Amino acid sequence: MSDITARKVAEEGTAVDIGSLRSRSEQQGVSDRRPITVPADRYTSAAFAALEAERMWPRVWQLATTLDAVARPGDVTEFTVGRLSAIVLRDQQGVLRAFQNVCLHRGIELCHGSVRGLTELRCQYHRWCWNLDGDLKEIPSRRDFGVVDNEAYALRALAVDTWGPLVFVNFDPEAMPLAEYLGGAPADAAHQGLDDFRCRVQVTVPVPANWKTTADGFSETLHVQGLHPELLHIYDDLDSDQVVWTHAARSRQPYGRPSPRLRPTPSDQEIWNAFAAVFSSRVGLDPADPGPVPTVDEQHPLLSVMATQLRAARAAAGLDLDRFSDEALMTLDQYNIFPNITVLVFPDLLSVLRARPGDSPDECFLDAFQFDRVAPGDDTERTPPLCVELPLGEASFGLVLDQDFALLRHAQRGLHQPGLTRITLAQEEVRVLNTHRNLERYLGIDPSEIEGDHLLG
Ligand code: FES
Ligand SMILES: [Fe+2]
Repeated sequence: MSDITARKVAEEGTAVDIGSLRSRSEQQGVSDRRPITVPADRYTSAAFAALEAERMWPRVWQLATTLDAVARPGDVTEFTVGRLSAIVLRDQQGVLRAFQNVCLHRGIELCHGSVRGLTELRCQYHRWCWNLDGDLKEIPSRRDFGVVDNEAYALRALAVDTWGPLVFVNFDPEAMPLAEYLGGAPADAAHQGLDDFRCRVQVTVPVPANWKTTADGFSETLHVQGLHPELLHIYDDLDSDQVVWTHAARSRQPYGRPSPRLRPTPSDQEIWNAFAAVFSSRVGLDPADPGPVPTVDEQHPLLSVMATQLRAARAAAGLDLDRFSDEALMTLDQYNIFPNITVLVFPDLLSVLRARPGDSPDECFLDAFQFDRVAPGDDTERTPPLCVELPLGEASFGLVLDQDFALLRHAQRGLHQPGLTRITLAQEEVRVLNTHRNLERYLGIDPSEIEGDHLLG
């Protein structure tokens, strides 16, 4: 019998709460379940990548850009994923729109990068021109083409919608609404006030690993004990609460207390030191020498002492976090949106990671979007983030993410070894399993095996 309790979430489909149960099963010892396995060549095969390009990427909702990049009428930005290319823009009436990035004359891409202040989209090749709402505006030497029906030559519109500051597009005209696709995630994240985040920086790094190898690294916390041992002093990795909706999933991660894996339990001073090292500039402490831990007693448990420090350090930088509880300030919510998005939220911090396929199954582009919170109701106009492309290793994303990124090259090479035919997943890796179940559905292939599907409800 399953040791997993599935709970029905009204109107949101089935959600699975595995957090507390995983802890319990670990305490109780090994059950008689077989491991869940998935073919390893999904991460290395050109044929599998071609199937993804044909059947999956044109049909899923994808993070294209942020509201900051297209805040003003005339702001235009390009989004590419594999061979697909989109234009996202704000038209002169202020409407957010997206189009396939193609000139309908001879098929060249219309836009590159990001541009501000446009009043029209004019092709650089033979100067065909469209209004920002997609209507055909002008064809030079028009009579030479015969009778051209303007309506037939409107730009090919894409579905476009937003979640907080994130702008999503879908190439499929039959796509379900974004709100349905995101399942319970927006309601689950409502307390974080995502609308109050502004994107400041968008960094793109080419990575020598499949997009799934990369996304998987942000879809489980089982690797914390191996890759991020520093976190074990400050993060209870055995008690993350996970929920899986169909295309989305969330892991709620309690910081401010050590992992039960650590024996003996670290002292308050050791936890304080780890708090300073891991949270670094956010908490206004010297990461190498944070000084003695403040007084901890019944009225001021260690978690509250840390939350107070964080609140004070952020207030000194002009950010009021008083409306967030101590618990909320020390909790990281990680949302995984199929296929390739990871949204990481603390009340004072939002980071979004996106893994786009590269030219081969062994390559991808990792995009990191960094956001700052502003005060609720702050109506300062959004401005485009700084966009940079850097080689892997030249940008630092902080201790933990740098550890994640450095691993990817080795994770991908290992997947090619002939003795490895299947990867094996634990219950904790249910979000990785969910990616595969979604892939199987979009690609129209049989599930790798049905064992383990109780995890998904
Ligand atoms: S390809 Fe765009 S005008 Fe000719
Ligand atoms: Fe990690």
